Amino acid sequence: MTASYAVGIDLGGTNIKGGVCTPDGQLRFRRSIDTQAAGGVAHVLGRMAELVDDLVRDAQLTKTELAGVGVGAPGPMSHAAGVVHNAPNLPGWVNVPLREQFSAMIGLPVVLENDANAAAFGEYVAGAGREVHSLVMLTLGTGIGGGIVLAGKLWRGHFDNAGEIGHLVTVPDGRACPCGQRGCLERYASASAVAERLCEAVRAGESSTLKAKVLANEAFDARHVLAAADAGDALAARIWDETCQYLALGIVNLRHLLNPELVVLAGGLSNAGPRLLEPVKAHFERLSWKIAPDAPRIALATLGENAGMIGAAALARAGLGF
Ligand code: BGC
Repeated sequence: MTASYAVGIDLGGTNIKGGVCTPDGQLRFRRSIDTQAAGGVAHVLGRMAELVDDLVRDAQLTKTELAGVGVGAPGPMSHAAGVVHNAPNLPGWVNVPLREQFSAMIGLPVVLENDANAAAFGEYVAGAGREVHSLVMLTLGTGIGGGIVLAGKLWRGHFDNAGEIGHLVTVPDGRACPCGQRGCLERYASASAVAERLCEAVRAGESSTLKAKVLANEAFDARHVLAAADAGDALAARIWDETCQYLALGIVNLRHLLNPELVVLAGGLSNAGPRLLEPVKAHFERLSWKIAPDAPRIALATLGENAGMIGAAALARAGLGF
């Protein structure tokens, strides 16, 4: 057995997912635990360390058989320095030297990557992007993440923060974003923004079958908005269609900037399948130029929530020279 097994960790605001990947990149053992983000940085790192121990045990490996651990974490960061600059969904995560601290805790080399970069790389090596040379992926969850693979390589940009697609400004002076900008794409087209926009419209007096839920402060999400739209709720239908239009607008701009072969839609919102894909494609077709045959294919991700773990493990192995 060679030391090229790797663990991939996908650190999210709600869950931490971890998996052991075999030397040929197959995900073998996986676990998901609550992040307990309110416990702060040290608590979350401690949970990640326990997760690694549990995975090593599940896989009946010893740590010496692991090349290292790849961690996909949200927020702007320095991959090179291994520091998370700011993770909006993880309270207290400001300038955290994750690579150094976590590596000391687990006694293994650690590679830090943006969560969406890791997921995009996962889809590239083992999912929707297996047959292509370039892709851009949008992860549509609590926020919107993005990852860019060009000519087979993850494109991190000079400052390691290329692909922050959720923060492309979509509406001038639009909705406030925790990042400090206004009008970011993720304030309109993330899974959480879909529900928020419906709530705001109802509170502003628009009618909807979801009104009672909104006024009772009941928890609901993008799935309820889509279900209401499909059951004939005009407001929900408008919000859903606008969401698809905002995404299509982003893809038009990405097409002109990067000219990728494929655009992959991933994350919670993509569970809507054709109800997301088809209107996004239709708006893209309507909004985008026709003067050159350079439109990317737009497709759904295929690895679901495994993409981040597979990508983080693959990037760890590559980053550590295995
Ligand atoms: C962050 C990204 C992250 C995405 C999904 C965004 O708000 O800026 O770095 O990839 O959320 O977690």
